[in-house]
Amino acid sequence: MNTNLDSIKVDRPEIITTDVDAISFYRKMDIKATVKDMIAGRYVIAEEFYSNGLLILGELKKRLSFKYTDKSFRGQREYRNAFRKASHRLLIKVKDNKLAVKKAPKVGWLELLYPDVSEFYVSFPDVQGMNSSWQWYEKGLEVKTLDITLKPYFGTYFPTRFDHLKLFDRYLKKYDGPKDNVIEIGVGSGILSFQLIQNGFDNIYATDSNKNAVIGVNEETKRLGYEDKITLNHGDLFENCDVNADLIVFNPPWIKAKHKLEEGIDKAMYYEEELFPRFFEQAAQHLKPDGKIVLIFSNLAQVVGEDSTNPIIEELRNNGRFRKDLHLTREVRASSRRTKREDNRKNEKVELWVLAPKKK
Ligand SMILES: C[S@@+](CC[C@H](N)C(=O)[O-])C[C@H]1O[C@@H](n2cnc3c(N)ncnc32)[C@H](O)[C@@H]1O
Repeated sequence: MNTNLDSIKVDRPEIITTDVDAISFYRKMDIKATVKDMIAGRYVIAEEFYSNGLLILGELKKRLSFKYTDKSFRGQREYRNAFRKASHRLLIKVKDNKLAVKKAPKVGWLELLYPDVSEFYVSFPDVQGMNSSWQWYEKGLEVKTLDITLKPYFGTYFPTRFDHLKLFDRYLKKYDGPKDNVIEIGVGSGILSFQLIQNGFDNIYATDSNKNAVIGVNEETKRLGYEDKITLNHGDLFENCDVNADLIVFNPPWIKAKHKLEEGIDKAMYYEEELFPRFFEQAAQHLKPDGKIVLIFSNLAQVVGEDSTNPIIEELRNNGRFRKDLHLTREVRASSRRTKREDNRKNEKVELWVLAPKKK
């Protein structure tokens, strides 16, 4: 089987390895003037203390919120875009894989993602992203349904609520079909594949279009001792896959994109119009005659006011390839007592769909 694990390179934040024409910011300097320059297009380097970078971002937020007063969805999107653009002009220096300022957090990704460069500049927001990802990676994500602590790799989707895993678990516990071959599309941080393994599937072909997901799950399978149970591949949907499966599992993105999708985590949340038609067409070619497709979905799009239709219902209604074998739903609970979900998400439900090919 074709797997391309050795040839893929990790996606990491962009860095600058040359000298930069920039203003060096120290605490006693005029922060307002510095931020004004940054908005006008100049690079700024946060020097001396990590908190200097935080101060600048705070001031930038304040200044832009005076300018972007339109509270409509569009107005707020313009504000976010302006913040994103200007904040990435704030740089911080990395030397010997560490942030070269005082009182900085230890960000292990600087070592793991940049073993080949010893000195460079990286944008402050990118460092914040790496820092938060590193905390999750270090601490691990405890998944009680699996009795596993996952270490989500940088730039990879991982769930923070587990209702869909409980639904999948319920399905797997009752599943009494053959367990010879299973394909998981969109492996993410590996959670569903590990759940399949714990339920007796030991020949899993797992794939993702996000390189970091594939690299991360490869690490995890070694750490958890699942190496010989999963074959990993980087690619779009069933690209490189020559397996015919008893089960095809996909927890796809749940919201239809209105923007052009970026590679990486964006594609874990949002889908392009053609994703589902392409998935179903290819799935039909990779399913054994008695095989099943298991899809995890949600009414999230409807709950947050998007007017999109459910692409699984569309497939069942329009194409005559599959019939509905099972449809389970479960209410989504708030992730903890402290983080109450906003009201408009209180009717959120996760769904598990099982589709079987129609007999000819
Ligand atoms: C919602 S996440 C699910 C991840 C994981 N299976 C889970 O349940 O936590 C969707 C995953 O599908 C991947 N994905 C999106 N479009 C894809 C495509 N065309 N081909 C392969 N994977 C894709 C994303 O990169 C992401 O990892």
